[in-house]
Amino acid sequence: MLEMLVALLTDGINYQKHVGITVSHTLLLTKILCTLMLLVAIGRCVTKSATRASKLLDKLPSPPGRLPVIGHAHLIGSLPHISLRDLATKHGSNLILLHLGAVPTLIVSSSRAAQAILRTHDHIFASRPYSVVCDILFYGPSDIGFTPYGEYWRQVRKMVTMHLLSTKKVRSYRLARQREVQLVMARIADVAMAHTAVDLSELLNYFSNDMICHAVCGKLFRQEGYNILFRQLTEANSVLMSGFNLESYFPRMARMAAIGRLFYAKAHHINNRWNQLLDKLIDDRTSSNTSYNGDEESDFIGTLLSLKHEYNFTIDNIKAILVDMFGAGTDTSSIVMEYAMVELMQKPQLMAKLQTEVRSMVPKGEEMVSEEHVGRMPFLEAVVKETLRLHPAAPSSAPSLHGGL
Ligand code: HEM
Repeated sequence: MLEMLVALLTDGINYQKHVGITVSHTLLLTKILCTLMLLVAIGRCVTKSATRASKLLDKLPSPPGRLPVIGHAHLIGSLPHISLRDLATKHGSNLILLHLGAVPTLIVSSSRAAQAILRTHDHIFASRPYSVVCDILFYGPSDIGFTPYGEYWRQVRKMVTMHLLSTKKVRSYRLARQREVQLVMARIADVAMAHTAVDLSELLNYFSNDMICHAVCGKLFRQEGYNILFRQLTEANSVLMSGFNLESYFPRMARMAAIGRLFYAKAHHINNRWNQLLDKLIDDRTSSNTSYNGDEESDFIGTLLSLKHEYNFTIDNIKAILVDMFGAGTDTSSIVMEYAMVELMQKPQLMAKLQTEVRSMVPKGEEMVSEEHVGRMPFLEAVVKETLRLHPAAPSSAPSLHGGL
């Protein structure tokens, strides 16, 4: 990601002048935990503890204006994290109980309270509310984000930390990143020469997607248009999981209503397409009989297949983890780069300062900055941090579940 930003900055072309840049905001697949706000869906048991749960819930501060059926849902606008922040400010509380349709949801919006939930009591809140759509799209769900807390949850996270997203593994894709950055820069140079517009949002999203494709299935990912297929499927998952859906607010009704069934049929259709693609890639790999042996440059499919027995993974588990990588890594990375460029374009003096820092690091005779040089650019680091602060890729988390109340 940093290399891509640096390349955009070092490139001799001043593309604000030469290229019309259209920057659009894509909808985020926010199934990752947030930096600002945490939503805890409180599952109520249908036993005698339901009365106890109601009594406990009654003690939590809840804003007025709750309506029949929809509860507080009408208080949430098109930018939910902004509405939630405004509600917390207005009611002077970092813990607010909202009834979003049929789901009692605790909004946690201070770092202290978030820390208590994410660190001190993390195991209690580690699961997500059950969703049929996630069940279908993530095989069980047995991915990283939605799998319920327990032994498999621990194992899959351990495996990802040690084998897929380790520093060594990320470093091993350095040349691939460089090659992909060069391709993007060549594309920008072409459109600049032709004085035509480039959709930077789309370009950066393709870049992120291609990088993940490389990590997942190796350097031949463009063969047979695998990258195009992965991008389409990631987008399709994102559409199914973001925005308003009946299941998040009226889970029981969604499971019974025709509209819910239509939604699940769509999820099955998308999952079938994921299956076709991933089965082919996995079968090709199994038949080619290449083994992992701790090789850092091995792609995720190779790595996961060789760890299958050690971690007791099924092929479906492996597919769930691969689907997760696209969902968690594509939009997050491209949106951060996009916002960094937006902020810099609006602040030309900072853009100039950063360009000077970056250009001063390009060794004579070389066209591009390497990742080692990127580590020695304090202003660039500050720009990235400020971008993440101003525009967190996941402004509010996917809800955690507290089912014990
Ligand atoms: C600028 C880019 C990115 C940002 C801002 C970002 C942000 C985040 C955040 C805030 C979390 C939640 C952390 C937590 O659970 O405490 C997360 C989790 C995760 N990220 Fe990223 N991420 C980025 C790129 C990536 C990439 C490139 C990948 C994979 C190739 C990735 C894979 C994951 C996975 C697997 C999880 C755990 C998912 C879960 O617990 O639900 N992320 N990310």
